[in-house]
Amino acid sequence: MIKTKFPISRMRRLRYTPLIRSLVKETQLSINDLIYPIFVKEGINEPEPINAMPGQFRLSLDDLIKECEQLISLGIPAIILFGIPLEKDSNGSLASDSKGIVQLAVKLIKKQFGDQLLVITDLCLCQYTDHGHCGIIQDNQILNDPTLKRMQEIAVSHVTAGADMIAPSSMMDGQVQALRKALDDNKFETVSIMAYSAKFSSNFYGPFRDAAFSAPSFGDRKSYQMDSSNGNEAVREVLLDINEGADIIMVKPALAYLDLVYQIKKKFGFPTAVYNVSGEYSMIKAAAEKGWIDEKGVVLESLLSMKRAGADMILTYFAKEVARWLKER
Ligand code: PBG
Repeated sequence: MIKTKFPISRMRRLRYTPLIRSLVKETQLSINDLIYPIFVKEGINEPEPINAMPGQFRLSLDDLIKECEQLISLGIPAIILFGIPLEKDSNGSLASDSKGIVQLAVKLIKKQFGDQLLVITDLCLCQYTDHGHCGIIQDNQILNDPTLKRMQEIAVSHVTAGADMIAPSSMMDGQVQALRKALDDNKFETVSIMAYSAKFSSNFYGPFRDAAFSAPSFGDRKSYQMDSSNGNEAVREVLLDINEGADIIMVKPALAYLDLVYQIKKKFGFPTAVYNVSGEYSMIKAAAEKGWIDEKGVVLESLLSMKRAGADMILTYFAKEVARWLKER
């Protein structure tokens, strides 16, 4: 252990000028780390502002293309797509439809932009089911294995449309293994899986459910999403997903769970994503609108802290602003 102490050791020596500070910077936030979530909605012509998420919109296919052009020019490498269908049913049928909104969106983006933009698709049933749960239901229970079958169908439809990566977010047991198998059986062995591995049953998802009309119509998600009090269980979830074939693992939400990001990155050294979720976004937006905090400063500090904790990449609704801010520095 280093034993030097004051006055030999003066921590402030390396803080006196901007150049010294940048020389000893341990963590950097880069545009390359950013994944931008986009809501694409069936049956609209104009961008629909999302009330609880100022600055975010539900987009039509046309507007989606314009948005992607902008993202590419900003240098943002990746998007994650959420579909909002016109109709819902108990099986979430439209989720795996080859003419579903996400499938059409992926096809269009890939045709227009090819490898200029990485297209990840969120893979879940909750926006597509009339009950709003992330799985198939019987007697008010969310069934695990029948849901896996549906997820396999959805996955194949997404990658057939051209998705580069799928991101299963329903927290069913065995979802990564089931999806890896479905992809491989259909000759998509080069398509990767970003697993929402440690996804907590969180109050921070409130604005998203408003954005995607995906709030459960009864009960809550506690029988599949994790209990906020459980850290060891989160590590186990991640380990299972790695063993099932996940290429990237995720902790979600981000800010309130950075202890887990730190542990998981240290333990597995695996590509690790965090989801800076809707509630985290809207809190900053609301406080900034009131003039109580400096938006840019708080956003950059938050995302930098996610990286310092060990995240390699960040799903964030702030991606466009961050790209601009990083460019102007
Ligand atoms: C769907 C899904 C949710 C989010 C991402 N995928 C909502 C939920 O689980 O209720 C939340 C994202 C956010 O809050 O930004 N399974």
